[in-house]
Amino acid sequence: MIHSSTSQLINEQVGHEMAAFLQYVALSCWLESEVLPELSKYFAKQADEERSHAMKMLGYLNDTDQKITIPAIPQPVSSFASVEEAIVLAHAQELRVTQQIEAIYNKASEHGDRLTQNFMQWFLEEQVEEVSAMDALLKITRRAENNLFRIEDYIARTGHPEDVQA
Ligand SMILES: [Fe+2]
Ligand SMILES: [Fe+2]
Repeated sequence: MIHSSTSQLINEQVGHEMAAFLQYVALSCWLESEVLPELSKYFAKQADEERSHAMKMLGYLNDTDQKITIPAIPQPVSSFASVEEAIVLAHAQELRVTQQIEAIYNKASEHGDRLTQNFMQWFLEEQVEEVSAMDALLKITRRAENNLFRIEDYIARTGHPEDVQA
């Protein structure tokens, strides 16, 4: 049985994942306008992943016969002073989502809800990857300083900042 407080948190998380989706779409558009196509593509891909996270949670709520309420989604930040500022925001977003996912996991375990714990386990592991990817991207951005084409190069070559060793 899923406790209503757990199911409410998952409902809210659907909103947070959708917000992350929109934020990465906005980031991708801004990067495109800055003529950084590889970074832009990278964030478009991240955006798709966030959307799939939201859909996966909705699937779980449906499968377990929970009430679904899609929350209002806040407006994303659409322009940035620098690439570093944009990546800092993405990194902070992933850290925030990790805390939210942990809170759902903890709520489920408070109520002995093994099903939801098991379901959330996948998201916990996913967050390890996403935080690590944003952390790597941030380090590369800081190291590249004014030469953003180096970042473009890296992403074009490796497809993923996690694989990048500068
Ligand atoms: Fe996510
Ligand atoms: Fe994410």
